[in-house]
Amino acid sequence: MADDLTIQTGGKDGGIVINDDWPGYSLELFNYPKHYSGDLECVYIPHGVIMDRTERLARNIMGDLGDHDIVVLCVLKAGYQFCADLVERIKALSRNSDHTLPMSVNFIRLKSYVNDQSTEDLHIVGAEDLSFLTGKAIVDTGKTMKTLLKHVEAFRPKMIKVAGLLVKRVPNSSGCLPDYVGFEIPNRFVVGYALDYNEYFRDLNHICVISESGKLKYKV
Ligand code: HPA
Ligand code: MG
Repeated sequence: MADDLTIQTGGKDGGIVINDDWPGYSLELFNYPKHYSGDLECVYIPHGVIMDRTERLARNIMGDLGDHDIVVLCVLKAGYQFCADLVERIKALSRNSDHTLPMSVNFIRLKSYVNDQSTEDLHIVGAEDLSFLTGKAIVDTGKTMKTLLKHVEAFRPKMIKVAGLLVKRVPNSSGCLPDYVGFEIPNRFVVGYALDYNEYFRDLNHICVISESGKLKYKV
C-alpha cells in the first residue's frame, strides 16, 4: 500500500488510502449531471462511499468527544457538504444513544485557489465564534489549516479537533493534518461533493477527476 510519497497521518486512523495508480471508475457506471459530460475523466470516489466513510468518522468523533458540547466550524465553501453530512451523522448517532452531543454550527469562509493552483493569499471572509470541531473538505499542503488553527486558537476553546474529508499526498506538506481523515489521496486535482474548479462542479455528488478539456472550458 505505502509508497514513497505516503505520509504518516495523525489521529487514530489516517483515512482510507487511495493509491497513486488508482484509475477511478468509468463515468458510464454512474449517474452525474449531463452539463458536465466531457468535463470529467473518472469517478474517483463515489458518493455512497463518501457517505459510508463519513458515518464512520461520526462514530469516531462521538467516541472521542464524549459529552462535551461541540461548536462546529464549517469551512466554506468546499467544506459545506462534508460538514452538513458529518453533522447529520453525529445527530443520528446521538439520537440513537444515551451519549448525546449538543452541537452548534458556525461558518467561516476561506479562499486560496484560482484554477487548480493555490495562491499565496488566504482570505478569511467571515468568522463568528470559536470552535471545537472544524470541518474542512480538503487538506493538501496544510498551510490553510495552519492559518485557520491559529485563528481558532485565539478564541481559546477547550479542545480543537479537525475533520477533513480528503488529505492529499503532496511533497511539500507542512505536516499539519486533521485529527479525522476520510481519505488520503494522490496529488491530483479533484472536484465534486462541493469541491470546485473556479466555482464549477460543486453540484456534482461524486468526487471526480476533471478532464483537460474541462479545465480549459472553465479556466479564468
Ligand atoms: N479540488 C478542489 N479544490 C481544492 C483542491 C482540489 O483538488 N485542492 C485544494 N483545493
Ligand atoms: Mg475552491
